[in-house]
Amino acid sequence: MITPVILCGGSGTRLWPLSRKSYPKQFVPLVGDETLFQASAKRLSGTTDALSFAAPAVLTGSDFRFIVTEQLAAIGIDPGVILIEPEGRNTAPAILAAALHLMATDPEAIMIVAPSDHVVPDTEAFHAAISKGLAAVEAGKLVTFGIKPTHPETAYGYLELAAQPDTSGAAVDLKQFVEKPDTARAAEMVDAGTFMWNAGIFLFKAKDIIAAFAAHAPSLTKPVTDAIDAAQIDLGFLRLDPDAWAQAEDISIDYAVMERAANLAVVPFDGGWSDLGGWDAVWRDLGPDADGVVTSGDATAIECENSLLRSDSENLEIVGIGLKNVMAIAMNDAVLVADMSRAQDVKKAVAALKAKG
Ligand code: GDD
Ligand code: MG
Repeated sequence: MITPVILCGGSGTRLWPLSRKSYPKQFVPLVGDETLFQASAKRLSGTTDALSFAAPAVLTGSDFRFIVTEQLAAIGIDPGVILIEPEGRNTAPAILAAALHLMATDPEAIMIVAPSDHVVPDTEAFHAAISKGLAAVEAGKLVTFGIKPTHPETAYGYLELAAQPDTSGAAVDLKQFVEKPDTARAAEMVDAGTFMWNAGIFLFKAKDIIAAFAAHAPSLTKPVTDAIDAAQIDLGFLRLDPDAWAQAEDISIDYAVMERAANLAVVPFDGGWSDLGGWDAVWRDLGPDADGVVTSGDATAIECENSLLRSDSENLEIVGIGLKNVMAIAMNDAVLVADMSRAQDVKKAVAALKAKG
């Protein structure tokens, strides 16, 4: 039995105006009819010949708790627990809290930590990769999933494999984990051919990640343990104690543990994966036509190239003529128009609007 631990605390500002503070990207139907959160939960549910998933543990902020329950109910999944973080402290404290919670009832609990904002189109291939990782988990490894890199991306972690993977797809030990390198280092790693991207999905026993935190990020153990011990049940949610939680360092698991631990392994995964980190990634995922154009919703492109025209409004038609490398996203109350190469700068729009009040 594997317990999915689904992280949905991020704010997704680079996907404004669809992604909002009150309704971040994982909760909106970005590609297809389901939300990315629903797709993540579904992907890690049910039972197959080789795998069996327990009810998920979901970690989120107070503002999103009812969105989580509604969206799970809509796809017929009962959450095992919804842990409410009094404030976002990044992924390390959240994952440690989930591990401590699971350990309390099952000392051998196996967890798969999954972000809620990725696209993994081939569930069968993904399940096969998880099965391959289980042998390494039994050997006490912290298992990551590796994606073949295509460009020197600086927004990802890189995994250096200790040996070339064989055709069985079994987990390979990791030599090192490098989180978010600069462009030069990323280019070196892509050229070296021995690195993969970290998919941001992790598989391990709760007790092994708790031990890794104790060894590599010991300052987190006390505040997170206290926050779990003093957690309050509130309308069926498990609300972590705010005073203890406030003492936990704001740090990601990648920096807190993965860059420092020696017992890492990677399962190569080539079943398709994308981190919809910006509108350019959404454009790629939606499948540009021969001219590189994607239209979505009430949108029409006339003689355009490499552009995304998308209306998520029921009463707003968007038309582009002769555009090149432009993304235009319309909502009822906001329209974003930007150069395609500036996808990562959309977060600046959110900051600018916030400053305006
Ligand atoms: N519950 C909770 N609380 N979830 C959080 C928090 C938090 O405080 N902070 C982030 N998350 C969620 C995000 O919503 C997302 O689903 C997931 O945790 C990962 O966080 P990101 O902030 O998106 O991480 P990243 O994309 O910068 O980097 C990670 O993912 C990359 C692949 O997409 C790293 O693991 C990289 O190494 C990896 O390559
Ligand atoms: Mg991310």
